[in-house]
Amino acid sequence: MTPIRLGVLASGRGSNLQAIIDAIESNTLDATIAVVVSNKKGSMAIERAQQHGIQDIFLDPKSMEGESNPRQVYDQKILEVLKEHEVELVLLAGYMKIVTPVLIDAYQSRMMNIHPSLLPSFPGLGAQKQALYAGVKVSGCTVHFVTEGVDEGPIILQTAVSVHEDDTVDSLSARILEQEHQLFPQAVQLFAEGRIGVEERRARVLETAP
Ligand code: GAR
Repeated sequence: MTPIRLGVLASGRGSNLQAIIDAIESNTLDATIAVVVSNKKGSMAIERAQQHGIQDIFLDPKSMEGESNPRQVYDQKILEVLKEHEVELVLLAGYMKIVTPVLIDAYQSRMMNIHPSLLPSFPGLGAQKQALYAGVKVSGCTVHFVTEGVDEGPIILQTAVSVHEDDTVDSLSARILEQEHQLFPQAVQLFAEGRIGVEERRARVLETAP
């Protein structure tokens, strides 16, 4: 089987990118990272790509200022990069920028996001802080296909994580992150095997590829 070609969009620390790299290098994920794109210059995600000989591209959102639709123009540039690298599946791995329909439509049911809560609870920024504030006893992480709403779209996989009485944002985030690093490569592998079906708002994990 030819490994599927991934394009990873990341803004910061890049630990989820690293989890994907590690899964590929340990042969538990049949994929190759064709390109890593970051909206942040010198991000750790870019460094990680470079350490593993992966093509990295920094696209400066500021360079689109002055355009009438800077976010769309920015996404058009990303789309060109993804096409040029023949990307089949896009991963938002800590990509802290809202994507526009320019990308969403081009990669419908072919763009995944990871989020540190059990969606649809606690979308947006500070999901772990929101969970602590709400006093939930269980939170977790979600991998879903990207649609137009922020942290919305058909849910592919979720892992639950207990919230402890003495948890801080940092301790809860760390426990959730550990699970994120397992979940994201698993979801990508299911996609690679053709085992994710999407019907309207629901994604289903299939026993075998159709
Ligand atoms: C992760 O916890 C990811 O789930 C979250 O940002 C962190 C990025 O960490 N994403 C979101 O909150 C998206 N709404 P990383 O850069 O180390 O992968």
